Amino acid sequence: MTLLGVNIDHVATLRNARGGREPEPVAAAAIAEQHGADQITVHLREDRRHIRDRDLRLLRETVRTKLNLEMSVAPEVVRIACDVKPDRVTLVPERREEVTTEGGLDCVKHRKEVARALEKLRKHNIAVSLFLDPEKPQLVAAHELGADMVEIHTGAYANARSARVAEKELGRIEQAVYDLASLSITPAAGHGLDYWNITPLVARFEYPRLAEVNIGHSIISRAVFCGLGQAVKDMKDLIMRAART
Ligand code: PXP
Repeated sequence: MTLLGVNIDHVATLRNARGGREPEPVAAAAIAEQHGADQITVHLREDRRHIRDRDLRLLRETVRTKLNLEMSVAPEVVRIACDVKPDRVTLVPERREEVTTEGGLDCVKHRKEVARALEKLRKHNIAVSLFLDPEKPQLVAAHELGADMVEIHTGAYANARSARVAEKELGRIEQAVYDLASLSITPAAGHGLDYWNITPLVARFEYPRLAEVNIGHSIISRAVFCGLGQAVKDMKDLIMRAART
């Protein structure tokens, strides 16, 4: 079964817009879990534009499923992760001026920094995933670095403006999933996934299955109109149905 990680960063963005206490990310995590989320995902950015240190600590205490922390390799956030001990850390690239994570981590170019972060996290028994573009050299480097999981960046698939391009991008993701299986690395996927593009992605894989997908923007956007519980349930239903097709 492909598990659903729900990214609740946007709930914190909304709270921070008024500098007050609502909406509360901890409540969002609990509602998401009650409606089928298998994991709560948050990104502690260096500029703290959404999730704050306080949110992370409270979520560590309250999340009943798994807590997946997305973060850069910056020593300051690595130290926080080692202290808070999420169930998994997903290392992502981070540029201050970007709106959201734009591309995969380049673990070929930044091998030393990634290795340093991985070693520290491993010492604290934290599993590590790398957020990578579906490119073979990146996957091989992830294997050499000893990553537990790779989350394939699905942005190019999600942004495809024609069926032909979407199919081409799905093919790249498929090849990456097979490459990861042959390297004994668990495959996951995320970025830009929504209620329309999730089914072709999940249905594509019977063996090896995508272990999990992490989805934020589309779920929180739908939640504005129908409530977070319903939005999570709708996505979970689509994933379960796709896995059966
Ligand atoms: N996975 C990773 C590694 C991400 O950085 C993000 C964006 O924070 C997501 C998944 C979720 O992407 P989206 O909000 O587009 O669903």
